[in-house]
Amino acid sequence: MSFFAHQICRRFSTSAVRNVVIKHVTVLGGGQMGAGIAQVAASAGHSVTLVDTNEDLLTKAVRGIEGSLKRVVKKKFADKPEAGDAFVRGVLQNVSTSTDAESVVQHSDLVVEAIVENLKIKRAVFGQLDKAAPARTIFASNTSSLPISEIAGATNRPDRFGGLHFFNPVPMMRLVEVIGTSATSQETFDSLLDFSKALGKTPVSCKDSPGFIVNRLLVPYLMEAIRLHERGHGSKEDIDIAMKLGAGYPMGPFELGDYVGLDTLKFVMDGWSEMDPENRLFAPSELLNKLVAEGKLGKKAGEGFYKYK
Ligand code: 3HC
Repeated sequence: MSFFAHQICRRFSTSAVRNVVIKHVTVLGGGQMGAGIAQVAASAGHSVTLVDTNEDLLTKAVRGIEGSLKRVVKKKFADKPEAGDAFVRGVLQNVSTSTDAESVVQHSDLVVEAIVENLKIKRAVFGQLDKAAPARTIFASNTSSLPISEIAGATNRPDRFGGLHFFNPVPMMRLVEVIGTSATSQETFDSLLDFSKALGKTPVSCKDSPGFIVNRLLVPYLMEAIRLHERGHGSKEDIDIAMKLGAGYPMGPFELGDYVGLDTLKFVMDGWSEMDPENRLFAPSELLNKLVAEGKLGKKAGEGFYKYK
């Protein structure tokens, strides 16, 4: 084959593998992350159905989206309040809710899961939806610490399965980690990159390794801050001030721990510690364990390292 013919073939075969065009998105889980993902997808013009187990949770999630949109609009449409109101109405029209995931995924191009961080539950949910969704539908998990390949293993579509890891608060944080397993097809991976860009986010490509990029660096840092405080080497307030003013972080480690949720932090650490018990970076913290046992889970609970009104 001549060089020229080879180039034409290459070009043809590249364009023959078309990325999936994502129009309808199902978001599983109406918590902080799920609602945030639904918000940014709907803001980018996608039709989104937010799914959870009961109507009360869904009503609360949509109220949260409305509140967050109003904050966005206050900045973006500061001198055009009417255009701002129209934007909020338009985005909310793109969001519907349901408690019946199996019927919703039948017409979905992408399913993003943001439910509880429990491998067994995630596998059960995806295993069930795998039977209901069309073959073309891409599945993605927003897990912060569980292996994507183990979740994907519950389905018959490991090639159309990847990770889409968003950051809290989703409307403000510009990054999305796109995770491919050894079975994720290039077409699926590229479609997830395209989807992230369509949301106005910057995607980075990650391997299916514990914590991907951000949490693998951020969680040990947060834990080391707690240990520093436990050793009596600094007050929470001083450590927070030090990292904000000395390192330019928007929040100090105790503020960020409370913001992310101390249960989430403990869950990630416990998983890693089980996997690699000798690694001192993953050593448990008595203070963190105590706060979680007392239900002081951070901002969402009204108290964590700090108290909130
Ligand atoms: N929705 C919409 N707009 C929001 C918002 C939300 N949820 N949160 C903040 N904003 C916008 C609003 O415009 C707000 O103005 P307003 O108060 O007048 O409405 C503006 O941000 C400023 O917010 P604040 O005055 O509350 O405070 P900050 O200036 O400190 O900004 C922040 C808030 C964006 C959260 C900033 O502190 C920050 O970037 N913090 C670090 C967050 C971070 O590191 N997240 C990653 C956590 S790790 C993770 O999520 C991974 C997971 O797997 C654990």
